[in-house]
Amino acid sequence: MSLLSPVEGWYYKKVSKDEKMWMVIALILCLMMFVWMIMWHVYGKQNPSSLTYKTSTAEFSKLSEAYIKNNMVGVDKGIPVVRPKPNSDVFVLAEMWRWSPVLILQKDQSYKLHISSRDVLHGFSIQPVNMNFQVYPQYDYVLTFKPTETGEYKVICNEFCGIGHHTMIGKIVVIDKEEDLKLYGYENMKKAPDPVVKKTNEPLTEQEMVLLGEQAYTLKGCAACHKIDGTKELAPAWNGLFGKSEEVRENGKIISVKVDEDYIKESIKQPQQKITVGFEKSPMPVFPVTDEDIDHIIAYIKSLSK
Ligand code: CUA
Repeated sequence: MSLLSPVEGWYYKKVSKDEKMWMVIALILCLMMFVWMIMWHVYGKQNPSSLTYKTSTAEFSKLSEAYIKNNMVGVDKGIPVVRPKPNSDVFVLAEMWRWSPVLILQKDQSYKLHISSRDVLHGFSIQPVNMNFQVYPQYDYVLTFKPTETGEYKVICNEFCGIGHHTMIGKIVVIDKEEDLKLYGYENMKKAPDPVVKKTNEPLTEQEMVLLGEQAYTLKGCAACHKIDGTKELAPAWNGLFGKSEEVRENGKIISVKVDEDYIKESIKQPQQKITVGFEKSPMPVFPVTDEDIDHIIAYIKSLSK
């Protein structure tokens, strides 16, 4: 209730000429914008409307992992590199804190990108072209993508997604000729690396274990935080880690532990049990890995400390 009540019947009063004119202008503007909304869908150069399907994080993770495994042509800093065929379906997974895989695309060819998140909301922004899409967990966002210019594009996450948000930078490389691969140091990324095939009943050799561990490191997402070049912004680096003594926090107390098989196993299965001092702010989530994966990962970590 206002302090002063309006005069009764005020709305029956005749509208003045000026007011009528403005109402007509506003109506015309509304109609123009409505028409543009539809035209923009057809002629607009950015943020095309697209299809979205319901999925689950487990299903999408599985699909993208299988996709990467079958189409991988190499690895760039722990992130798998895929060179999809034109007009094919491409799976891109966002997770704290990486985009996987890196894509090598052909200029003027179309690709059907399926994008989803394994954990929280991320933003898929292709730079320097101004394209922005939100990436939700449990939704498969399908984007038909046709690069028209060659070059290296960054995929920046533009939704704050936690302490490692600023490190979440992916890559799309658009090439025209085969020689262009050299510009990005990708000249050897033309065909898939030979997969490690388990021989019948024979136990895996140490080298095969290490290769599988390296594959798990890339595919399961460990590479997003654990680096192998000594940098440790979000998590302990894996090189030189095995056999080392680490200060960890357990039940509020700081203790020293030796990094061995048991410690790594526990760290993967119950990451909150012992948290390495200095990394309390970037807690590790539980990853869908099997006991076999863990054995391979241990072999890989060991190999990085030799
Ligand atoms: Cu992902 Cu910010």
